[in-house]
Amino acid sequence: MAIRLGDVAPDFTAETTEGTINFHQWLGEGWGILFSHPKDFTPVCTTELGAFAARKGEFDRRDTKLIAVSVDDVESHNRWKADIGETQGSDLNFPIIGDEGRSVADLYDMIHPNASDTMTVRSVFIVGPDKKVKLTLTYPASTGRNVDEIIRVLDSVQLSAKFPVATPVDWKDGDDVIIVMSVNDEDAKEKFPKGFRKVKDYLRFTPQPNK
Ligand code: BEZ
Repeated sequence: MAIRLGDVAPDFTAETTEGTINFHQWLGEGWGILFSHPKDFTPVCTTELGAFAARKGEFDRRDTKLIAVSVDDVESHNRWKADIGETQGSDLNFPIIGDEGRSVADLYDMIHPNASDTMTVRSVFIVGPDKKVKLTLTYPASTGRNVDEIIRVLDSVQLSAKFPVATPVDWKDGDDVIIVMSVNDEDAKEKFPKGFRKVKDYLRFTPQPNK
């Protein structure tokens, strides 16, 4: 069944390039991003894994672990890892799940038979410290993901987890945010000491509270 926002991310135990991992235990108290790759030794995936590896420090700073899954075995992933390091300029620094039996792919509904019977789509799941799914994204196999966008959404969901705010169109870390409608003006004055700008009763902007 499809995974929906707010669902508990299904737990699993799997072999990975960094040994056996129990997903929930491995996440610990922090955030996680699980993302799928249609197949090993494929060009778009190779560029994506290199790009995520190069920017792992940005995920670390956000207390967020990365874990990839591809429907090949760990031995194949280890050979592919060497290619990623060689061609992308960054050694892989997070685990890839060996999923030749497709159990993780099936658990997370990553195979969309009308797209392909054998390969996963490019799924992204952001999981919060409560193990609940905060974001799902699905790209076709032919489109590489955008790391900036995934970090941008991560910043937004982490901010909304701490403050009663939402983020407007094209928001980036540091831009003004929107006060959610469940907070009235009186409470907003207290919760947002930097003040707010009221465009409409339902549209109030305030400087990003954690900056
Ligand atoms: C790729 O990663 O390059 C790819 C994988 C499956 C289908 C199309 C492209």
